[in-house]
Amino acid sequence: MSLTYKIAVLAGDGIGPEVMAEAIDLLQKCAELDRFQVDLNESLVGGAAIDATGKALPKETLANCEASDAILFSSVGGPKWERLPPGEQPERAALLPLRKHFHLFANLRPALCLPELSAASPLRPDLVQGGFEILCIRELTGGLYFGQPKGTRVEHGETIAIDTMVYRKSEVERIAHLAFQIARTRKRKLVSVDKANVLENSLLWRAVLKEIAAVYPAVELTHLLVDNAAMQFIRAPKTFDVVVTENLFGDILSDELAMLTGSIGMLPSASLGTGQHGFYRFGLYEPSGGSAPDIAGQGIANPIAQILSVAMMLRYSFELEETAARIESAVRKTIAKGLRTKDIWSVGTKLVSTKEMGDEINGKLLTRNNCKMEGEEKSKKVAKEKRSVKKSKTVALPAKEIPAAPVAEKPATRKTTGSGTAKRPAGSSKAKEPSYEQVQLRAYFIGERRKSLGIPGDETSDWVQAELELKAELAAK
Ligand SMILES: NC(=O)c1ccc[n+]([C@@H]2O[C@H](COP(=O)([O-])OP(=O)(O)OC[C@H]3O[C@@H](n4cnc5c(N)ncnc54)[C@H](O)[C@@H]3O)[C@@H](O)[C@H]2O)c1
Repeated sequence: MSLTYKIAVLAGDGIGPEVMAEAIDLLQKCAELDRFQVDLNESLVGGAAIDATGKALPKETLANCEASDAILFSSVGGPKWERLPPGEQPERAALLPLRKHFHLFANLRPALCLPELSAASPLRPDLVQGGFEILCIRELTGGLYFGQPKGTRVEHGETIAIDTMVYRKSEVERIAHLAFQIARTRKRKLVSVDKANVLENSLLWRAVLKEIAAVYPAVELTHLLVDNAAMQFIRAPKTFDVVVTENLFGDILSDELAMLTGSIGMLPSASLGTGQHGFYRFGLYEPSGGSAPDIAGQGIANPIAQILSVAMMLRYSFELEETAARIESAVRKTIAKGLRTKDIWSVGTKLVSTKEMGDEINGKLLTRNNCKMEGEEKSKKVAKEKRSVKKSKTVALPAKEIPAAPVAEKPATRKTTGSGTAKRPAGSSKAKEPSYEQVQLRAYFIGERRKSLGIPGDETSDWVQAELELKAELAAK
């Protein structure tokens, strides 16, 4: 028996279907190599859905997404639908409702500048030599964009416009836990961006970040004011790894970071939900760019952003780190070999089509054994990171939504020893052991489901059941 991941595939408009085709081929090859199943269900969205049904997000599409473990999205929109009333246009009537419906509260946008493409960056060569990768984590459902009151009215004969910035502590805790959890699997450096010298919201933000930092002592937390952050990204991009910030600042800074890489066709993104869907953290994965109508239908779009979106989905929704790393490695090798789509082409490199780029990356996916050898360094690092996690105290869960929160970790240099119980810290030395975080996540959902069904039990029994289930699944793989 192997695991089956149910994925809603929404290719959308413009270059969407072209780049999605390459991503799906690659996903299917990964499933074959790593012996998992994907149940892919395509639905119309955006302009294509308007043409067919009159709605940018038809009921059937939403139902497909609801029944899935994750959404693989491409992009929507184009000149054909620009004359529609704003509320009916593809982006506003499809993407925003999807974000809202699935409570997608965290937007992850890696700004990836590969060494071979650093010439595309508008920054001075000495600042980007060797490339960089900064992961920008933006809070997506709070702050100025959604706070009430909001609106425009006339007061004392003058028109005034009001937007209100509101953050609840639980909203900040939720995104902070996620940011720390991601930072500890990378370089363990987290920069929190705020405007604490002016805004009440930022004072709360900073205080919560500091509080949550105590749960993750292996991660070094620093704070930057947003105006300074905007400058430091340009001055020294290579010194950053993970950045977390609120909605408005994240909107602006993630675009600045994307611009610093110089190649929008390379940048994926993830919008993570509250994890209520099955056992997996629900997410919507899509390229950072749009539907690029100027090049649609020509077979020249860069499929890498869509392909790397698949890698993000496997990592963040399905915890298939090894497979995600394999995809990223295949992309790096293809770029290192000199293949380029038109958007990233330069003299001396080989110009290829969307399909040729997809096929080349596909061909560079290693077999399981080779991949293990090649990815040994990264896997070792991740395993070491997970071994260092030890459940030592319980802290408040962030609004029932990030189940991996109630842990405190030991500094990464310290290894823990396993006892063989359900609560044993994981990343165990045995090959077929579920990780501590996998058990914790599964136990959380088992507990939630048990409670909602009114079945008696306790946390320990949830952990035992979670560990048994995961071991059985791993053994069957
Ligand atoms: N998430 C989404 O669905 C999303 C996001 C942004 C824009 N849009 C929509 O897309 C349409 C076009 O918007 P835009 O032109 O402002 O932004 P865009 O990102 O579609 O295009 C900007 C430039 O980047 C290029 N580009 C983008 N992705 C590329 C790729 N994968 N390969 C090669 N080149 C690529 C385009 O050719 C264009 O020159 C609009 O209708 C807009 O509303 C949708």
